[in-house]
Amino acid sequence: MSTLHDEVTVNGMKLRNRLVLPPLTTNCGGPEGQVTDGVVQFYEERAGDVGLVIVEAAAVRSDGRIVPGSLGLWEDGQVPGMARIAGGIKNAGAAAVLQINHAGARGFPSGGEMQGASPSGFSFRPDVEAFFMRPEQIETLVSDFAAAANRAREAGFDGIEIHGAHLYLISQFLSPLTNQRDDRYGGDALGRATLALEVLKAVRERLGVNYPILFRFNVVEHVEGGQTLADAVAVSRALAQAGVDALDVSLVSTGSWQETEEGRFLLPASAFPKHQPPGANIPFIARIKEATGLPVIGVGKLGIGTMAAKSVEGSLMDLVAIGRQMIADPESAAKILSGKAEEIIPCQECMACFASLRKGPVICKVNKTLPWTAA
Ligand SMILES: Cc1cc2nc3c(=O)[nH]c(=O)nc-3n(C[C@H](O)[C@H](O)[C@H](O)COP(=O)(O)O)c2cc1C
Repeated sequence: MSTLHDEVTVNGMKLRNRLVLPPLTTNCGGPEGQVTDGVVQFYEERAGDVGLVIVEAAAVRSDGRIVPGSLGLWEDGQVPGMARIAGGIKNAGAAAVLQINHAGARGFPSGGEMQGASPSGFSFRPDVEAFFMRPEQIETLVSDFAAAANRAREAGFDGIEIHGAHLYLISQFLSPLTNQRDDRYGGDALGRATLALEVLKAVRERLGVNYPILFRFNVVEHVEGGQTLADAVAVSRALAQAGVDALDVSLVSTGSWQETEEGRFLLPASAFPKHQPPGANIPFIARIKEATGLPVIGVGKLGIGTMAAKSVEGSLMDLVAIGRQMIADPESAAKILSGKAEEIIPCQECMACFASLRKGPVICKVNKTLPWTAA
C-alpha cells in the first residue's frame, strides 16, 4: 500500500515523500518581478518536510503578471534571484519546481503589448480590455514560455510547471467559456488545447527529454459554460501523449460575477470555499490518473485530518498538495507526516489570503507572521 512517506521519482526528479507545497502567489516580489528576502523566507519556511515545492506563478513576460508583486523570469537578470529560491528549497531537502505563467486578460494593468491577451476577447476586469490574440502573437508567447523555462533551469530548479489552470491565459484557451475562436486554436477540447500543446512542445524542445515538466490544469470549471471533466480527460490524454511528466490537477471551484458600471466580470476561485467538504475533487483527480497513467498531484483541502494519507493509500493520486493549510501553519506537513495531525493549527478557510492579494502581500488571519515585508 502506498503511504505519504514513499519516495517518488518524476522523470529523474527524486521526491523524499508524497507531500507537495502547491504554487501560492505571495505578491511579495519587487516592482520588476524581482525575488525579495521575504519570498525566499516564505519558501524556506515551508520546504523543510514536503517532498516537492512548486513555486508560485512566475511571469514569462512583464505583462503577464497576476499581481504587481508576482515574480518574473522574462529576462536573464532575474535568474540569480530565482536561484536563491531554488537553492533555499533544495537545501531544506525538497525538490524545487517553478510554475511559469502568463495571466492574459486576468493580469493587472501593466501596460505591455500583451496586456489583455485573450483567445477571443473575454475581459476579467474593468481596467484591462481583453483583445483577440493574432497567431503571430501566440507564436511570440510560446517562445516566451520556452525562454522562461530555460531560465528556470539555469536558476537551478529541478523542473518546471506550465500554468494551464484558473483561467489565466493558457487556461482561457482551454476553456469553452473564454475561447470562441474558429481557427486552429479553438473548437473542441483538443482544438482549444493547441496552445497548451505548443507550449509544452517548445519547452520540451528547449529543455530536453530528461527535464521534468509538469502541467497544471482545471479538471472541471464550476462556472456556467466552463470546461467539463470529459474535456479535461481529453486534454490530459493529449498532454500525456505529448510527453508531459506529471499532471497537477486543480479546478475552478466557483465563479462569482462582479457587477460594475463597466459591466459584469467573472471572478474565478481556485480553492474550495468553507461550505464545500474536503476532498470533493478526489474522484475527478482519480479519473485523470486512470485516464493517463501519469503521476498526478491532487489538491483541495487535503491538509485536514487524515485526508492526505487516505488519498495516497487508496492510490487515488500520487502526490498530495496542501495549500492554505501550509500558509496558516508551515509545520502542517511535518505534523501530518509524524502522525500528529491533531496538532495542526487549522486554516479557517476565510479566504483572507486570496482577498489580500488584491491589495498587497499575502496575509493570513491565523498566521500573524504574514505578511512579509518586501526587502
Ligand atoms: C494566496 C493563494 C495564492 C495562490 N496562487 C496560486 C498560483 O500562483 N498558482 C496556482 O496554480 N495556484 C495558486 N493558488 C491555488 C493553490 O495552489 C491551491 O490549488 C488552492 O489553494 C487549493 O488548495 P487548498 O485547498 O489546499 O488551499 C493560490 C492559492 C492561494 C490561497
